[in-house]
Amino acid sequence: MIYLFIKILHIFSVFIYGGFLFTDNLILMKMQKTLSKEKYDEVRAYFKEFTRVLVPKALVVAVITGVLLFHNSFGSVSEDGLSNFQIVLSIKAILGLWLGLRGILQVFFGIQPFFFKSHKLPFILVIIIIFLSQIMFNI
Ligand code: HEM
Repeated sequence: MIYLFIKILHIFSVFIYGGFLFTDNLILMKMQKTLSKEKYDEVRAYFKEFTRVLVPKALVVAVITGVLLFHNSFGSVSEDGLSNFQIVLSIKAILGLWLGLRGILQVFFGIQPFFFKSHKLPFILVIIIIFLSQIMFNI
């Protein structure tokens, strides 16, 4: 029951974070092409102001619940080494932790990322992570 609750929290927080990246990358990018620079800057400022309240917290929740799920799902390593599930889950977890660390350092500590300063790469990473999270159970 607790596992289910944590998993639902994980999925919802990831949904908020992924939704933010989707809007930022696809919807706002489209607006940038049609709106004047002043109008676009104004829209972007509002978007930033309102998403700032929720999105960084959702990312923190995604990382914490992810670590808890990992603890529960990874299982023990057999004598033959890591299973395919454990390998893919580890890759997914590393990518998720990297995203989480980068976001937390940037928003809560004002440390700008060394790589991918825009939101394009986090968006691509989230798509990869979601893909990995689905195939890891079936390989
Ligand atoms: C923003 C980054 C992340 C995204 C987009 C993401 C996305 C997802 C998604 C979509 C699922 C599939 C849920 C399902 O189909 O039932 C999932 C499951 C899972 N995630 Fe994440 N996740 C992220 C971060 C993390 C982190 C940092 C960890 C661990 C350190 C983690 C560990 C897990 C585990 C262990 C599961 C499998 C739970 C199970 O046993 O069913 N995730 N994640």
